Amino acid sequence: MHIIFDKNSKTFFLENKEISYVFKIEESGFLRHLYWGKRISRDSLNHLDYFTESQSVFLGDMDRMHPIEEYPLELGSFGNRGDYRESSISINNLGHRTLDLRYKSHKILSEKPEIDGMPSLRDGKTLKITMFDNVNKIKVDVFYTIYDDSNAIARRMEIVNLNDHEIKIEKAFSACVDIIPKENMQAITFHGAWLRERMQEKNDITHAGIEISSTRGVSSAQTNPSMIIAGANTTMYQGTAIGINLIYSGDFAIKAKQDQYGRIRLTAGINDEDFDWTLKKNEKFSTPEAVFVYSCNGINAMSQSFHNLYRNHLINSDWVKKSRPIICNNWEATGVDFNEKKLMRFIDSLKGSGVDTFVLDDGWFLGRNSDSSSLGDWIVDKKKLPRGLEFIIEYTHKAGLKFGLWFEPEMISKNSLLYQHHPDWAIKSNTIASEGRNQYVLDLSKNEVCDFVIDTINKYLDTYKINYIKWDMNRYLTESFSSELGTRSKEHHHRYNLGLYKVLDAVIKTHPDVFFEGCASGGARFDAGMLAFFPQIWASDNSDAYSRSIIQTHTSLFYPLSSIDCHVTTGTPNMQTGRMSDLTARFSVASMGSFGCEMDFSKLSDEDKRNIREFIAFYKKYFQTLVLSGDTYILSQMNDNNLWAQQIVSKDKALSAISILQGLNKPIPEEKRIYPQGLVASACYRIMVGKQEKLLAKLRGDTIMNAGINVNNWPLRSDPNGIGLNFGDFVGQTLILEQEENETIEKD
Ligand code: GLA
Repeated sequence: MHIIFDKNSKTFFLENKEISYVFKIEESGFLRHLYWGKRISRDSLNHLDYFTESQSVFLGDMDRMHPIEEYPLELGSFGNRGDYRESSISINNLGHRTLDLRYKSHKILSEKPEIDGMPSLRDGKTLKITMFDNVNKIKVDVFYTIYDDSNAIARRMEIVNLNDHEIKIEKAFSACVDIIPKENMQAITFHGAWLRERMQEKNDITHAGIEISSTRGVSSAQTNPSMIIAGANTTMYQGTAIGINLIYSGDFAIKAKQDQYGRIRLTAGINDEDFDWTLKKNEKFSTPEAVFVYSCNGINAMSQSFHNLYRNHLINSDWVKKSRPIICNNWEATGVDFNEKKLMRFIDSLKGSGVDTFVLDDGWFLGRNSDSSSLGDWIVDKKKLPRGLEFIIEYTHKAGLKFGLWFEPEMISKNSLLYQHHPDWAIKSNTIASEGRNQYVLDLSKNEVCDFVIDTINKYLDTYKINYIKWDMNRYLTESFSSELGTRSKEHHHRYNLGLYKVLDAVIKTHPDVFFEGCASGGARFDAGMLAFFPQIWASDNSDAYSRSIIQTHTSLFYPLSSIDCHVTTGTPNMQTGRMSDLTARFSVASMGSFGCEMDFSKLSDEDKRNIREFIAFYKKYFQTLVLSGDTYILSQMNDNNLWAQQIVSKDKALSAISILQGLNKPIPEEKRIYPQGLVASACYRIMVGKQEKLLAKLRGDTIMNAGINVNNWPLRSDPNGIGLNFGDFVGQTLILEQEENETIEKD
């Protein structure tokens, strides 16, 4: 990967083995976008110049013949010479709102700078371009980073006010780019709700535009901060796919809109609907980082690029390659209704199961007998745990398990001691204070509140031998106001997130041995900002296999499998959907991520216990390392084919695991084949079915990938679990493909 500046043509080339991103400095100082796509040579630059027949009357000094609106740009500043496309930056300087940013200088940096107070990618090669508005005295640094192990370009801005007076930023998006589409393009976006996170929607990108956004203070279950721009004919494995993702956990917007010349302007950043920011003299505002991945080989390659990027350059490097704990959490089994005796029985029953961490969920602190009280009162409830937390922790450790604890640190219940002492710490306006799940959000824009949260969690981690924290967040922000901000209340949601990042940094950095998992009513804050702190996030409170096959697959389009926490739960019928699915099906789906359980082993039949023990051993043997570092392939999506199949292949291609789930059964079904990917064509693989590792066939990689595997006809009815894919609804299986050492079946 490299960044080259061609002095003659004043053109920047950001390149790696696969892609080129090219833009130039116009005579006038604007940054004109020239090309983004498959790697091209640096010759014949003039060919890339783009003009149209203009009818605009707004002639600019970019070129007397062509107004600025005709040009694909790298930055869209509001009010500038009749550029009516979506702007990426807008300021109010004593009423002047026309920002005229021109190139001043640039630098190719030896190290990627961190962003003040916000998570960002590490490494790569970074270009910093300084733009300047001489009249408004505003400096904007635009950052681009390119990587060699991912086809990503990371973008962000820093805005500095060089006036003696304060100015207001009304919009500050992280990135803007005008793409010149080769075909009709569609936007794939991910909407949802509690228990139904990251459902997929496809819309044509027209002149009406597509916009996804959040104003909830949190990235949200309703819209994930991610969008795929794909050609109408793009598939998983062919065609153009551009992935956009924000390394940010608060209010965001991602927009794609066609202009009058047929190009698509893409913008992404902090949502400007409920945002502005006052900058005093010499103050700087940093936007979060936006990531744009370009794939010439379909959506799956885009997804793999994100996985490589986030594993190698975002997720905490201490944890990214470490096997994740196999946890058993008591939430679905007990809710808040437990006592010491119940927990001891729960822990005892985990011995020998293969589970290595017991996680005590909600309900362990003062008076927390329902969700109507106690958040903020992080004092152990002696009625439930008379010998204290230390006893349960020691008991867990003696059972050979690690200990995990649930917290919801960003919250305060109205019915709590904390609220009695600090009612002003809860976010509320002068007229309304809406409770959500009977609780308020703590105002993390205030330093003293952040200090309280840091001290509380740190005290627990310093006092007790806690190995794992589940960090939950169960409501969105409403009635945003903070007494310290006064009229600057449009800064509140962003300041809340900056406070949260500060808290997480202070707690996590000082406890490198503790594993932190993120959660927000299931997967309501599954974003790359959180991934920088939590190597793993609870994907959904919905643990039904069918629902999970959809939720997890869409989540994995952007976020690596190891970051997706997936549990097998007892409930059949499932607690959230009432759907029946057998253990093998539930296991198959949960094994495509960081696996865990949520059930009371003491209540399981001996057969279920044995099966789960065998499943866990099987997961550890084949899946655990693959999930951490393998390449992921989506073979079949439930919504398209009534069949879900996802595959992971080790980087050396010697081992692969496939999980499969059928939707509704169809008697005399059409033939169903899956086409595995990523194998060595000439190598021979043993294909083994289920945890029994029953040999199905030995086939060459090219046969498997091209002829596929018929999943209707497995000899599975004799399986001790009695289930084959063609028998019943929501049945599933796993396949292991293991390369035979030094063996090819037929020589070429
Ligand atoms: C949220 C989480 C659950 C559980 C409960 C506890 O809903 O997603 O996993 O921890 O809170 O209140």
